[in-house]
Amino acid sequence: MEAVCDVDPERARQAAEKLGGARVYTDYHQLLADPALDAVDLCLPHHLHRPVTEEALAAGKHVLCQKPIATTLADADAMLAAAERAGRVLAVAELSRFNPAVAKTRELLDEGVVGQPILVQSVMPWYQGGAYMQTAWRFAVDTMGGGALIDGGIHHVDLLLALLGRPLWVSCATRRVRDIFPAEDTAVVTGEFEGGVLATLTVLWSARHTPGVLLRVCGTEGTLTAEHGVVRVASDRLPDQTAEHTLPQLNGFGALMRDFVECTETGRRPRMGGPEARADLSFVLAAYESARTGRVVVVE
Ligand SMILES: NC(=O)c1ccc[n+]([C@@H]2O[C@H](COP(=O)([O-])OP(=O)(O)OC[C@H]3O[C@@H](n4cnc5c(N)ncnc54)[C@H](O)[C@@H]3O)[C@@H](O)[C@H]2O)c1
Repeated sequence: MEAVCDVDPERARQAAEKLGGARVYTDYHQLLADPALDAVDLCLPHHLHRPVTEEALAAGKHVLCQKPIATTLADADAMLAAAERAGRVLAVAELSRFNPAVAKTRELLDEGVVGQPILVQSVMPWYQGGAYMQTAWRFAVDTMGGGALIDGGIHHVDLLLALLGRPLWVSCATRRVRDIFPAEDTAVVTGEFEGGVLATLTVLWSARHTPGVLLRVCGTEGTLTAEHGVVRVASDRLPDQTAEHTLPQLNGFGALMRDFVECTETGRRPRMGGPEARADLSFVLAAYESARTGRVVVVE
């Protein structure tokens, strides 16, 4: 049995139609009270992630919540505790860990192909526009939790954490280039990860014609560049000094959904669960504190 809920009845109807005739609700309390449903996929504005997740878990549903897990660490902690109490799965719809280029990069770094990694650079250059600009909740900090970094940049934060482990400190500068945004549309974050690897993350929502790479890892023996679908390496450790790895195109949402469903069936932990998403949020909030105070901030 499938059901959809949206306060906007027309959006609910359209979503139900796409699913081939799912049950329709416009009040999520009623959907959560439906005993035929085992799990919910929450695609809601950021400030609603905590209350709806808590209510869904208390109603015995497994939850797949969109990123960011929440807008504050207190909210994220409450969600993790609610999942623990309910004995239900809490997964977060963050796709970075399901990206084959990230998995390949991890594998190559573990093999030592670039020697000792020194610096990881990640650039996310966009001109944010189109349908995205129609979502009213994105234009208030109370409902969004911040700007480009918490909404789009958090994908690359997750990518950095998936590759490098625990962040130690961050330093961040932000700009609001287009004043239609309620908060930053530009963020430059520098950080250090356990083992001493440095990282920079650049998020741009108001720059045009800026080609970006997913990430670049500069090491003592070579450099690795990852894009969607391809990872290139130039290294003294390779016989021809270069290698190119073309990766299969993967539907990230499909992989994430399969992982979530398998967790609800087997009880294993999701690849992208509450603790991983909390760590991403903690990095973002530390970066915001750094931008606000002009100081380097230790990541909790
Ligand atoms: N993982 C990704 O790649 C990705 C991509 C885009 C968006 N997102 C995330 O998805 C979430 C939603 O973003 P979006 O762009 O789809 O926003 P959206 O505004 O287009 O969709 C949110 C929907 O929630 C409905 N809604 C609001 N309050 C509600 C309530 N109380 N009860 C029921 N329905 C309610 C709205 O009517 C709207 O249809 C956000 O967390 C966003 O960050 C993730």
